[in-house]
Amino acid sequence: MAAVGRLPSAVVALLLALLCLAGTSAATNVTYDHRALVIDGVRRVLVSGSIHYPRSTPDMWPGLMQKAKDGGLDMVETYVFWDVHEPVRGQYDFEGRNDLVRFVKAAADAGLYVHLRIGPYVCAEWNYGGFPLWLHFIPGIKFRTDNEPFKTEMQRFTEKVVATMKGAGLYASQGGPIILSQIENEYGNIDASYGAPGKSYIRWAAGMAVALDTGVPWVMCQQADTPAPLINTCNGFYCDQFTPSLSSRPKLWTENWSGWFLSFGGAVPYRPTEDLAFAVARFYQRGGTLQNYYMYHGGTNFGRSSGGPFISTSYDYDAPIDEYGLVRQPKWGHLRDVHKAIKMCEPALIATDPSYMSLGQNAEAHVYKAGSLCAAFLANIDNQSDKTVTFNGKAYKLPAWSVSILPDCKNVVLNTAQINSQVASTQMRNLGFSTQASDGSSVEAELASSTWSYAVEPVGITKENAMTKPGLMEQINTTADASDFLWYSTSIIVAGDEPYLNGSQSNLLVNSLGHVLQVFVNGKFAGSSKGSATSSLISLTTPVTLVPGKNKIDLLSATVGLTNYGAFFDLVGAGITGPVKLTGPKGTLDLSSADWTYQIGLRGEDLHLYNPSEASPEWVSDNSYPTNNPLTWYKSKFTTPAGDDPVAIDFTGMGKGEAWVNGQSIGRYWPTNIAPQSGCVNSCNYRGPYSASKCQKKCGQPSQILYHVPRSFLQPGSNDIVLFEQFGGDPSKISFTTKQTESVCAHVSEDHPDQIDSWISPQQKLQRSGPALRLECPKEGQVISSIKFASFGTPSGTCGSYSHGECSSSQALAVAQEACVGVSSCSVPVSAKNFGDPCRGVTKSLVVEAACS
Ligand code: GAL
Repeated sequence: MAAVGRLPSAVVALLLALLCLAGTSAATNVTYDHRALVIDGVRRVLVSGSIHYPRSTPDMWPGLMQKAKDGGLDMVETYVFWDVHEPVRGQYDFEGRNDLVRFVKAAADAGLYVHLRIGPYVCAEWNYGGFPLWLHFIPGIKFRTDNEPFKTEMQRFTEKVVATMKGAGLYASQGGPIILSQIENEYGNIDASYGAPGKSYIRWAAGMAVALDTGVPWVMCQQADTPAPLINTCNGFYCDQFTPSLSSRPKLWTENWSGWFLSFGGAVPYRPTEDLAFAVARFYQRGGTLQNYYMYHGGTNFGRSSGGPFISTSYDYDAPIDEYGLVRQPKWGHLRDVHKAIKMCEPALIATDPSYMSLGQNAEAHVYKAGSLCAAFLANIDNQSDKTVTFNGKAYKLPAWSVSILPDCKNVVLNTAQINSQVASTQMRNLGFSTQASDGSSVEAELASSTWSYAVEPVGITKENAMTKPGLMEQINTTADASDFLWYSTSIIVAGDEPYLNGSQSNLLVNSLGHVLQVFVNGKFAGSSKGSATSSLISLTTPVTLVPGKNKIDLLSATVGLTNYGAFFDLVGAGITGPVKLTGPKGTLDLSSADWTYQIGLRGEDLHLYNPSEASPEWVSDNSYPTNNPLTWYKSKFTTPAGDDPVAIDFTGMGKGEAWVNGQSIGRYWPTNIAPQSGCVNSCNYRGPYSASKCQKKCGQPSQILYHVPRSFLQPGSNDIVLFEQFGGDPSKISFTTKQTESVCAHVSEDHPDQIDSWISPQQKLQRSGPALRLECPKEGQVISSIKFASFGTPSGTCGSYSHGECSSSQALAVAQEACVGVSSCSVPVSAKNFGDPCRGVTKSLVVEAACS
């Protein structure tokens, strides 16, 4: 250090200080008061959205974060999924999709804060609520209550997560993005079932969390008796009526359900944008300062990660960013506008508490006035009638079930029911199976000759480690969820004159806790049944043919995601617990306590057939693969679809199973599980309280036919695909699709507020132009190539199928073409000045549908 020795010591100190600063960003101080989270001494009004890292891929994360940021989010919220991080006790995995540090850094890179919901119970429609299965087998353990073995494990994992975050410098107190953290999850919904030990468990959990000294506040959601200094928060479709249980706490909303999850066998839920926007605005109107969309990007339940039972592989959730990572319009765009409007109010919102003012029946204002600052929210909570209200001496039109936001207490910059944002009509383009090779003929040749190879999964017991025991065993305790599958096998000797026989016929009755059951007698398929998301129980009676002598009965029980919610959910069983009986006209044979032989999992799983890089002699490739046979593995090759649009497989033709691409599981597929015929509405009325079953689509259709294949699972050229088909299907019918936007559309009325971007500040506008219709091509580099439809007057319909109304200007198309063709985005004033007035005295609107290329 001779050189340093010659420098004055003050200079050395300065250099060292600079070096330190370069390594870490400045610490952020996060506290709270009764109004808001307080960041570096300033109250903040924040918008957040849930994105779960294992439900997308690391290469999708930066794009998702950017779309979250562009959508006006300040923060991203994620659960921490214990089972993925500690699949075996003491063996941690923070790699790939489980790379939580990389995920949190991706949020920080996009300028987003993070709310880390450690749980470690997370619910989340995730297998077993996020608990690893080994936890269940710890002697004396009782989950989520005052139980030493459980608390020891929960604390150990929570400490591990906190240490990992601290190690990477990710807490705000260290200069990182994490400003908030959650312990437990909605325990208050079910704590009554746990009695007094449940109460002491919650006190323990709070104390344990606080002692971890993260330097940022902790929350508990849906937990009125949350101990201080933690904050109790709200989850639900609406949380404007929520009041925290201590007056020193801010009003925070950890889960605003942006849609709902899908189950195999259910219809597809969606939540209208206007209602979601209404819920958000009502929350900030009535004193809330942080709300989080659950989900902002739902994503995909890859592998066997979905909870249940019967949670589908898609976890799209009708979220503002769709399963594939594309913005969902107009939801994403309208919420972005709502966020901008709320942010315009932030100075007033953090300055004071709201004061309430009735505006008549079912109409109310909340005003935030402090000195020269003033922001107001005007709400019409009537679920039928539009209203005109008077506020500060001025008349305001309020559509039913809507909120108008006035950042200066005068001008409406947004109404939640008036969508200025564009809509997109998207299309899944079917590419068939042998998609066009983009890179060379050798691949083409390889694929042209490739068809499906197959391997037969044998019926019944084939593994040497099978065990025989008297009686029927519960499945999850037996398999520890190492596989979906458990074989139950027994045999009987038949003389021919047994009372349970009618000639050679008998009826086999099998009762199971679920979730899916297949019966084979003497190696032949003899019947199947399934439970549903509402009841997983199965009671199957199926006619069987028996032969004199020995008869083999093989029952295959399969789980479809382990229960993730409810008091004692961890103890909900599965599998064939009986009775199992043969019945005939004269009598019954109860097999329930016979000797049964058990095999955990499939032979093909043990042989890693899903991973074609491991060669196996099981595969047969003779161009005559069987179709519609249960228990069949299939394997083929395909070319990566050209371009960068998201890829999905259309599983038409297949039954139920799991699929792997280049050895990575894309999840369970089940296109034959069909939604009920009824319960759907064509166009759901957003007015009035939303519930999970209010707005559903795809009744009578497969719950899920398309399955996301993330681009990062694919490699240039040829890829391997493996299917395990449980019920029977024809793999020649499956095809690849890519998702793209067909057209962009918008529908803006003369009485809509101006585009939110036309405001510089609450008082100042860029141009006093009135409402405008804006269109923007979804992809970089695209321009609007044509106007497919334009109408000014009283047009109707939806994007892709608009029609002119009785009143319609003849200039609409020319005006839209002039403004939009050849540019990547355009803005068209919605006014008679622009189009001529086709019908005086009528409120007119403009629709435009454009194609981009
Ligand atoms: C909540 C729970 C979430 C999720 C949600 C439904 O009750 O906290 O984890 O399960 O319901 O999607």
